[in-house]
Amino acid sequence: MNASQIPGLTVMDHPLVDHKLSILRDHESPPHRFRQTLHELSWLLAYPAFAALKTEGVDIQTPLEVTSCQAMQPPYPCLVSILRAGNGLIDGFSQVCPEASVGHLGLYRDHDTMAPISYYNSLPTDITQRQVILGDPMLATGGSAVMALDTLREIGVRDIVFSCLVAAPEGVKALHDAHPDVPIVTAALDRELNESCYILPGLGDAGDRIYGTG
Ligand code: PRP
Ligand code: URA
Repeated sequence: MNASQIPGLTVMDHPLVDHKLSILRDHESPPHRFRQTLHELSWLLAYPAFAALKTEGVDIQTPLEVTSCQAMQPPYPCLVSILRAGNGLIDGFSQVCPEASVGHLGLYRDHDTMAPISYYNSLPTDITQRQVILGDPMLATGGSAVMALDTLREIGVRDIVFSCLVAAPEGVKALHDAHPDVPIVTAALDRELNESCYILPGLGDAGDRIYGTG
């Protein structure tokens, strides 16, 4: 199956998203512009990423009368960042949903094998009762996202959305094969991976571009 047809995949289609992606992809964009643009784009990406957010009916007294509204109720969602680049996405998500808790899973790709290595894990104790949005700007081989989802599933988290900026077809397939019930929301679906497992055309190493390392 073509990756774009995978069930549960949402690829954003909006001129403002395209414009911001053009800035992120540009190798001349310095870290401060990359960070700022990623932040702006994360607000737009939050719209589809939070589309299945649970709300409940509540009666609210406006200055004029009582009306029925929909509002989040505790336990609020948990945003989980795959360190370190995930923070570039999750920081913006937590601004549009400040009630959410924020968890962190530290993973990096081994430069020789490209396999993810876990080095840190900090999640709310009641995470199993919350909706979870897992965020990482890049879905390349899918190894990091699948390991993060394995971790969340092992502790009993059920309701998870994975959100990224740029996805490779290989990563979308790997994630869907391992966790077919997890929706994937991305700003872009790119062409392929290169021999070093970087996304083409991509935007380079997201962590290095956010933090000015590399
Ligand atoms: C990047 C990115 C993802 C991972 C994607 O992280 O932020 O976590 O690579 O690649 P995969 O789909 O092949 O696993 P990286 O390992 O460079 O760590 P960093 O965020 O600390 O820079
Ligand atoms: N991680 C990145 O940061 N970029 C890629 O293209 C692939 C993995």
